[in-house]
Amino acid sequence: MKVLRDRVAVITGGGSGLGRELALECARRGMSVALGDVDEAGMEETRHRIQAATQGVACATYALDVSRLPSMEAFADAVMTRFGAVHVLFNNAGVAVNGPLWEYTVADWQWVLGVNLYGVAWGIKAFVPRMLTQGEGHVVNTASAAGWVNAPGSGIYNTSKCGVVAMSETLALDLRDAQATIGVTVVSPAFFPTPIANSGRNRPVELADTAPMSEARRRRSDELQYAVAHGRIPADTIASVTLDAVQADQFYVFPHRAIKDLVRARAEAVQEEQTVFDTLAGR
Ligand SMILES: NC(=O)c1ccc[n+]([C@@H]2O[C@H](COP(=O)([O-])OP(=O)(O)OC[C@H]3O[C@@H](n4cnc5c(N)ncnc54)[C@H](O)[C@@H]3O)[C@@H](O)[C@H]2O)c1
Repeated sequence: MKVLRDRVAVITGGGSGLGRELALECARRGMSVALGDVDEAGMEETRHRIQAATQGVACATYALDVSRLPSMEAFADAVMTRFGAVHVLFNNAGVAVNGPLWEYTVADWQWVLGVNLYGVAWGIKAFVPRMLTQGEGHVVNTASAAGWVNAPGSGIYNTSKCGVVAMSETLALDLRDAQATIGVTVVSPAFFPTPIANSGRNRPVELADTAPMSEARRRRSDELQYAVAHGRIPADTIASVTLDAVQADQFYVFPHRAIKDLVRARAEAVQEEQTVFDTLAGR
């Protein structure tokens, strides 16, 4: 979608981190912005920053739980009523939990897959039919380097992000099948500084973390805190690269270029068929 000015951006997880920076970048490029998040105070902050950084850009906020289809459908209805169209959908909300796979609780699986995997599925289900009716649109899914290479201690997160990559590739092929003029982009960043290592702040009480904190879980959580805090590319750069990709109709986006080397190394390990690919081997 070459021209973004006067178009409508819809952003899930717009109350923090990358979602906030995507919202600011969309506003700078002249788009109206609809934010959806469980964090209403965070969205208010994003809205204030948009108002401070731009002149007259429309920004609306909506309470949204991406893991629930009725909530996503109500969000889509509200956006269409307010703005009359949706041009670029960012399925961006995401959460993380750490530990060895056998230690996760049922609630851990339901929470992380609910947000990271079903959240993207419900975004597509609620908004793509409206784009098809409009005859244009673009879907951006935030995956992760974890959608391509699997580090230990993030089993549910890795599973969810592999699913987002699979969903994105299939969506692009399904849209091509349907001869639809709707673009798709899948963004796969490595670590960058945001509050994601503190995702539990927005965890619903009905899926509360009840398991005792084991030594292994604590170590992996500390590692995530450190890696995210020391990420070298800021979220605003990732947002800008992502918007450029939407305008160029680019499908894959790897803001951290070194991840592509890991993807290649994994493909070589697959050719060898010998041992599991280790993201840190040789480093
Ligand atoms: N920060 C990183 O290192 C990193 C790396 C790769 C990919 N990502 C991905 O980037 C995306 C954005 O994450 P971030 O790093 O900005 O984290 P963040 O914690 O700053 O933002 C995530 C947002 O999602 C919202 N959210 C959580 N549960 C929700 C729900 N049920 N419904 C609606 N919104 C919900 C949160 O309230 C928050 O505003 C995620 O998909 C994440 O997996 C992040």
